[in-house]
Amino acid sequence: MAVQSWLELGTGYQGQMVRSRPMSEPRHILVAVAWPYATGSLHLGHIAGAYLPPDIFARYHRMAGNKVLMVSGSDVHGTPITVKADEEGVSPQEIVDRYHPRFLDYWDQLGIKFDLFTTTGTDNHKRVAQEFFLKLLENGYLYRKTTSQFYDEEAQRFLPDRYVEGICPHCGYIEARGDQCDNCGRTLDPHELVDPRSTLSGTAPVERDTEHYYWKLSAFQEPLLDWLRSRRGWRPHVANFAIGMAKGGLHDRAFTRDLDWGIPIPIDDLGPGKSIYVWWEAVMGYFSAPQEWAQLQGIPEAWKEWWTNPEAESYYFIGKDNIPFHAVYWPALLMGHGGLNLPTNVPGNQYVTFGGSKASKSRGVGRSLDWYLERFEPDALRYAVASVLPEHNDTDLSDAEIVRRINEELVATWGNLVNRVLSMTARSEGGTIPELGTLDSDDHALLAGVDAALAQAGTQIEAVELRAALRTVMDGGQEVNAYLNQKAPWKTAATDPERTATTLYVALSAINGLKTGFSPFLPFTSAQVHTMLGQKGTLEEGGWRRAELQAGTPLPRPKPLFAKLELAELE
Ligand code: MF3
Ligand code: ZN
Repeated sequence: MAVQSWLELGTGYQGQMVRSRPMSEPRHILVAVAWPYATGSLHLGHIAGAYLPPDIFARYHRMAGNKVLMVSGSDVHGTPITVKADEEGVSPQEIVDRYHPRFLDYWDQLGIKFDLFTTTGTDNHKRVAQEFFLKLLENGYLYRKTTSQFYDEEAQRFLPDRYVEGICPHCGYIEARGDQCDNCGRTLDPHELVDPRSTLSGTAPVERDTEHYYWKLSAFQEPLLDWLRSRRGWRPHVANFAIGMAKGGLHDRAFTRDLDWGIPIPIDDLGPGKSIYVWWEAVMGYFSAPQEWAQLQGIPEAWKEWWTNPEAESYYFIGKDNIPFHAVYWPALLMGHGGLNLPTNVPGNQYVTFGGSKASKSRGVGRSLDWYLERFEPDALRYAVASVLPEHNDTDLSDAEIVRRINEELVATWGNLVNRVLSMTARSEGGTIPELGTLDSDDHALLAGVDAALAQAGTQIEAVELRAALRTVMDGGQEVNAYLNQKAPWKTAATDPERTATTLYVALSAINGLKTGFSPFLPFTSAQVHTMLGQKGTLEEGGWRRAELQAGTPLPRPKPLFAKLELAELE
């Protein structure tokens, strides 16, 4: 077999290193998506922050011929679940069983296509997390230590993480939780809180000795800084946050908790009731889920292509509150384990605000996703969200803005274009794809423009500039509209049938190309356009390019892709 070599090593979009390789060689791309806590319904902020972007990215890469593995699952352990269960007086498992199926239903309705969406409650995840623990222990990165922890004398329980609330020592936010401040994003230890109180009884906690495993995170400060500084193509806000954290000093962290609801440590030398801290085992889900997927495929070793093959790439899609865990702690865990790939990129998003307030499932800002799914077509909703993705800055969304984006951009530019050209073809070409005829320079320019837009959108998606990529494709739609206005096939139909046929052929071909460009964003309606253009096979099989159309292909009756919305009728 011939040796495949890199064709070139150069600088690509926004300066990241790109390796071009022969078209025939697919890349292995792990699309790792933040695991939502199974404690509540999702809202549009979650979709914009963590769930729609990876789906767009994965759909593009599958079409480009790469081997994508997109995984996530419900995060089911730790105090986020037990605190909620305590509040409702039900078992933690009941909470998980309520929300996990709801997540699966969201993905289904929104067309978010995971290769596996599992949970951290599986036997596979438990095995992988326990083996990870033993590997860190064997490599000398875990040690035992007795410290005093907060304890609630009334409830007679230790108070890990979210069982303590108080004032953030960094920003003064008064409702900071013992694990993290929701306002400034810093990770916390309950002891750092000012005026700590137990969320179980409201009393001030007392100190009590307890023994835990500690993680020698301090050993990774230098290697992490070197690694972070060598990253190219990362979003500045992600890289800066992570480098700032590592520079500020990384201290050893407790690896275990006094909590029953979690993954027990695989050795019993600390006695019962010790679990691996939820965050350390949740991020291990990125490593366990591919193994579960491989078992389900009947090829138990298949996960290695994404984890131990040094050419494989991995992208972690998260909201900005998750940056410490994915850009600092998870890479350090992977370094401590050894033999596994570090993240290629962590395209963390900023927040989407609704009328200026951050959407939050615990604080009830913004409507539930269910409300939107009852009122909007999935592609229309995907469009509105994708057009304001908070990739570099917080962005604001409102129902009025969602409706405006759908009516003035999606319907006006793209939906009407498709409908107009297909209806004209039905009328003047007897509903079949017309003959190409002789192309003039406008025709050539339009098709070249569409091909260039497709190539540019592909480059932008690879750099995880998804919002810009959507803009690129939409601008392509505007070019087709300008071309049609200039060629006026509705006028030439009576006088010059050959010219009219060529104009419609060229417009149909341009739409065929743009449909591919839109398909990661608008999978449902792009598949409809594919069918309405009489194309054989699935859209995905067509690849990331504009396929030429066959003259004479009969076209089905066109149907409008989207409906215009009235803001007042949504209520
Ligand atoms: N459950 C966490 C949250 O909702 C995210 C966990 S991502 C993981 O913020 F990788 F750690 F699982
Ligand atoms: Zn804070």
